Amino acid sequence: MKIVTVLGARPQFIKAAPVSKAFRLAGIEEVLVHTGQHYDANMSDIFFEELDLPKPGYALAVGSGSRPFQMAEGLRRLEPVLAAEKPDIVLVYGDTNATLVGAFVADTFQIPIAHVEAGLRSFNRAMPEETNRILTDQLATWCLAPTPTAMRHLSHDGLAQRAYLVGDVMLDALLQFEAKARETFPDFWERLGLQQKGYWLLTMHRAETTASPEQAIALLRLMDAQDVPIVFPVHPRTRALVESAGPFRNIRCIDPLGYLEMILAECGAAQILTDSGGVQKEAAMLGVPCITLRTETEWTETVDMGMNTIVGLSPEALAAALHQRPGHWDLNAIRQFFGNGQASKAIVSILQGQAISSPTAAESLSV
Ligand code: UD1
Ligand code: UDP
Repeated sequence: MKIVTVLGARPQFIKAAPVSKAFRLAGIEEVLVHTGQHYDANMSDIFFEELDLPKPGYALAVGSGSRPFQMAEGLRRLEPVLAAEKPDIVLVYGDTNATLVGAFVADTFQIPIAHVEAGLRSFNRAMPEETNRILTDQLATWCLAPTPTAMRHLSHDGLAQRAYLVGDVMLDALLQFEAKARETFPDFWERLGLQQKGYWLLTMHRAETTASPEQAIALLRLMDAQDVPIVFPVHPRTRALVESAGPFRNIRCIDPLGYLEMILAECGAAQILTDSGGVQKEAAMLGVPCITLRTETEWTETVDMGMNTIVGLSPEALAAALHQRPGHWDLNAIRQFFGNGQASKAIVSILQGQAISSPTAAESLSV
């Protein structure tokens, strides 16, 4: 069996690491196609180096631009690759422009599509990610869902026959790389002058956030006014906004981190503030309380479990959430809920035609 995986953005490199490894162990041939949506060394190369990802067979070098530009260039450049490679399956992750590019060209060639992280919904059509994921789910042969909620969304969209509950590959990645992170960067906190559990971690990169600069700046200034060091690895989309909001007293802006250091930054944080989908989940998986700087989340279970507070871009809501006492939650149950680190193996089994139902006990956890 030959799989072509199309990816292009930071979270996709992380999701691909455990899945590519599972393919290698199963003797499945995989060719990676990097669309080039993310290209800075600290947004791309570092993940291939740290996470033992195979070197991409193709680099489409699409680069930055509007969504139509990224889509058009991606479609145009991917077409000859799939025509030449003729894979049995095209695999895509999540909801970025690279995801839809991969699914659309595969559909053109009638190549079966596997969509990892299928069935997520924010019900906010203003987000490009929402249409990317809805369209990709519609095109996919295998909608590989991380949670029971995602399964319900797929069922609601008439896709139950193609939906498989596999768990979340981001938990696979976290469990596979946490020890390597600690071994590789034993002096992480010391180097940054941080006490474990004595700082907050902030990430901010959503297009909706940077589209409301006044509100985003008000949030940053409110956070900065708290008497807590806040580590902020700044995504390139947010750089200009952050520069216009500073200088800061407590917020420490740093370059984007590699995944290994990011895991440590998350583990050591007393609290995480983020508008990232992946970081919300990792907070829950690591047992760190999270405040989400968005008006909704795809990961509603993290809110139901009391691990995540949604504040939108409202300074009042943020102020109220900042110092609330975290509840108590059961880390084992959460990890069980997200598939216990076995999602990649489940994906391999399904694509090899060996499994038709969920290997996770996710349904059994009441939230
Ligand atoms: C994209 C995804 C988003 C995902 C995020 C992960 C879409 C529609 N959005 O958003 O779902 O959460 O990736 O991080 O696909 N830039 C650089 N260097 C880079 C990459 C980007 O400077 O290596 C700058 C460019 O100015 C670019 C901007 O960041 O225009 C935004 O990048 P883009 O990939 O378009 O969107 P993201 O915000 O990264
Ligand atoms: N991440 C990272 N370095 C950073 C910020 C995030 O390695 O400086 C990781 C994070 O741990 C998670 C993933 O990137 O695994 C989330 O990606 P991002 O926030 O860019 O996108 P989203 O998940 O919102 O699509």
